[in-house]
Amino acid sequence: MNELTAIVDSAKAAFADAATPAELENAKAVFLGKAGRITELMKGMATLTVDEKKSRGAAINLAKQAIEAALNARRHALAEAELQLQLQAEAIDVSLPGRQRGQGGLHPVSLTMERIEAIFGSMGFDVAQGPEIESDWFNFTALNTPEDHPARSMHDTFYVEGGSESAPNLLRTHTSPMQIRHAVQHVKKHRAAASALDGALFAGDMPEIRVIAPGRTYRVDSDATHSPMFHQCEGLWVGENVSFKDLKYVFTDFCRTFFENDDLVLRFRPSFFPFTEPSAEIDIQFPSGPLAGRWLEVAGSGQVHPNVIRNMGLDPEKYIGFAFGMGPDRLTMLRYGVNDLRLFFDGDIRFLSQFQ
Ligand code: PHE
Repeated sequence: MNELTAIVDSAKAAFADAATPAELENAKAVFLGKAGRITELMKGMATLTVDEKKSRGAAINLAKQAIEAALNARRHALAEAELQLQLQAEAIDVSLPGRQRGQGGLHPVSLTMERIEAIFGSMGFDVAQGPEIESDWFNFTALNTPEDHPARSMHDTFYVEGGSESAPNLLRTHTSPMQIRHAVQHVKKHRAAASALDGALFAGDMPEIRVIAPGRTYRVDSDATHSPMFHQCEGLWVGENVSFKDLKYVFTDFCRTFFENDDLVLRFRPSFFPFTEPSAEIDIQFPSGPLAGRWLEVAGSGQVHPNVIRNMGLDPEKYIGFAFGMGPDRLTMLRYGVNDLRLFFDGDIRFLSQFQ
């Protein structure tokens, strides 16, 4: 049986030499194929006697089984090697940080708006919202700014359809129209209960008006510190005994809380607005830091003009108050040290993501 052992050995050697499954299948054909060595031996048995066939057949079968076993072992080895290669090629570094989903966030000016609302909310102020397309009445006339008033020229804006020919609707130039809109609603709500005469100015009892009105405003203006669309936040406090001292207290408290700086200094600089008398520009000064020593204007303010109180439906003999209007864009620039207003409106993600 040396011959059979030799065949088995050469099959094992050929299988070991096969480096790929295809080569292995070729090698298999040489030994187990239709014209393979084992098949040849089987055919060669035709001339043997029955007894010879028995023992010869058994021996060939053993050789065949040995070759098949060697073939299967090599198949497994090659498949295993291939799997290892593939696993290496597709290796996953589980220590790498995952690809994260981009997270959105609030715009810096929105963050400021939320901050303003939270601070004034803690002082008992409501928040009111109003239209950006405004009538001439609410934007100007009701605010003691009649048609030929020179203060109007400072509020050049965008006129839109609607209204009358001499007084078209416009994109509001400030949030001050909300003083009237909100107060009128407030008075309407409370005068019914007090059953005052309709049409007459209200001098009955009502809860104080304490409100802020944040929102978008528009003017024809565009440079590093002015944008045709910008934000304002109006404040209004009207009651029977609300004075300039309350304005100073409330606004000082607001600024110090907003900038988280108890040493912030405020200055009320005499100014003019048609709808307040007296009026003041409010400046702030930081005691230290990059902006120290400079007066920075942050709001217009004043005691609400009696004509405006009347247009709210209130009797100016009984009701008095103050109003202010500040610029959240500017407050945001000061808080974060941004020097170009236009960055807020460019929508550049590299800038905006710094505030998250
Ligand atoms: N509306 C004024 C402006 O836009 C600011 C202001 C509001 C002034 C309220 C006084 C009172 O310039």
